[in-house]
Amino acid sequence: MNRLNIVILAAGMGKRMQSSVPKVLHKLGGKPLLMHVIDTARGLLPSKICVVYGYGGEAVREQITDEDIVWIEQIEQLGTGHALIQALPMLDQGSITLVLFGDVPLVKISTLQKLIEAAQDACSLLTANLELPEGYGRIIREAESNSVVAIVEEKDATNEQRQITEINTGVMVVPNRYLLAWLPNLKNSNQQQEYYLTDIISISVKNNISVASVQPTDTWEILGINSKVQLESLERTYQSEIARKLLEQGVGLIDASRIDIRGQLDCGRDVVIDVNCIFEGDVVLGDNVTIHANNCLKNVTVAAGTTIAANSLIEDAVIGENCKIGPYARIRPGTKLADKVHIGNFVEIKNSSIATGSKASHLSYIGDTVMGQNVNVGAGTITCNYDGANKHKTIIEDNVFIGSDTQFIAPVTVSEGATIGAGSTITRDVPQGQLALSRAKQSSIVGWKRPTKKQ
Ligand code: UD1
Ligand code: CA
Repeated sequence: MNRLNIVILAAGMGKRMQSSVPKVLHKLGGKPLLMHVIDTARGLLPSKICVVYGYGGEAVREQITDEDIVWIEQIEQLGTGHALIQALPMLDQGSITLVLFGDVPLVKISTLQKLIEAAQDACSLLTANLELPEGYGRIIREAESNSVVAIVEEKDATNEQRQITEINTGVMVVPNRYLLAWLPNLKNSNQQQEYYLTDIISISVKNNISVASVQPTDTWEILGINSKVQLESLERTYQSEIARKLLEQGVGLIDASRIDIRGQLDCGRDVVIDVNCIFEGDVVLGDNVTIHANNCLKNVTVAAGTTIAANSLIEDAVIGENCKIGPYARIRPGTKLADKVHIGNFVEIKNSSIATGSKASHLSYIGDTVMGQNVNVGAGTITCNYDGANKHKTIIEDNVFIGSDTQFIAPVTVSEGATIGAGSTITRDVPQGQLALSRAKQSSIVGWKRPTKKQ
């Protein structure tokens, strides 16, 4: 039987964020802080994850829709101990509880595993040594045995205690039977008149139950978010960690400090990524893919050998092998490009599939279109897919040649091998192999004089 319960405390308001968005919904790496903690919690395979919420609770529950979360409302925020008391009825008999904070997003699963192991059948605390311990609760150890005897909040600490650099991260493990016995007895006779969860450490020691302590591998694991300044700073730490891992895997980042990954980026061999690129959602780059500067890719799969030139925006799309995209391409949701497709500058593609070897090199809009192989789309081609009420399809078969400045009034089909003369507005289907032209005949006026300015 799995003995682990996890309670995430997330009821605090986060006043210093200066925002109407609840603190735990602010994003790090594109994901709400609380989601980072929930994902970490899941990694430990607990039997139950409880989230204590309060301020902005509606919004929190709307955004986080995971069905297996046990939500517990803390109506008044009377302290971390009071928060955990709200969760007591939900905890399993004979289990242990790991307490996490909703605003401490980056603690590692491996660190928490160590903490759980260290707890045995008692309490364990995640502590850290900080050069600047200001604001944190301090760990009090007995001089001789060096064992933990209490946590003192900074506001309650003596000057001497404030010199201590070992701090309480807030993360701890406590067997449920002790929580049930001790939490209801907490007092709020302290500076902040709060019920401190941290007080159970001295209670444990008074009951002759020793408290284990574990330190994180990296100090950033325990950093909490109270302000936008801290959020920005932890975002940079988070991004540089991801960038370092990508470099270790062999991804060619030109500058590890100028890439942002807000989701999952999976790369094949010999991928090169130039500066200022943003990857959101799930992005997969095949072998030998090159991403030039200033590209944004969201939920995109790019197959081997493709190059994305600078300043392109690509979203919810699948791109084949050896394609050339951009510069300045906009590829919108529902686009599927086969192999060796070229999409050039100022070309927008939406909800369309384009087969192997077709090219749209300049200034075009292709929407709701099914395009065959080896089609040449001239500059300025537009599919007029919207009649003001409904969207219609354009079908362009293999080997069609489209002259520049063509409009297709959808729904319309251009059959295989047809040619469209430049400047045409195509309103009817074009049969296979034929030339369609809808241009007005050119005329020249003999003796034409330009107007001149009145004197
Ligand atoms: C707490 C610890 C302190 C530790 C620090 C680490 C206590 C008494 N103090 O202090 O020792 O060094 O965290 O960051 O535990 N929360 C609730 N309901 C409440 C109060 C808080 O859910 O009534 C939640 C908050 O949303 C937050 C977490 O508990 O996620 C910590 O609360 P916070 O007020 O930030 O505690 P600190 O004073 O920083
Ligand atoms: Ca805090």
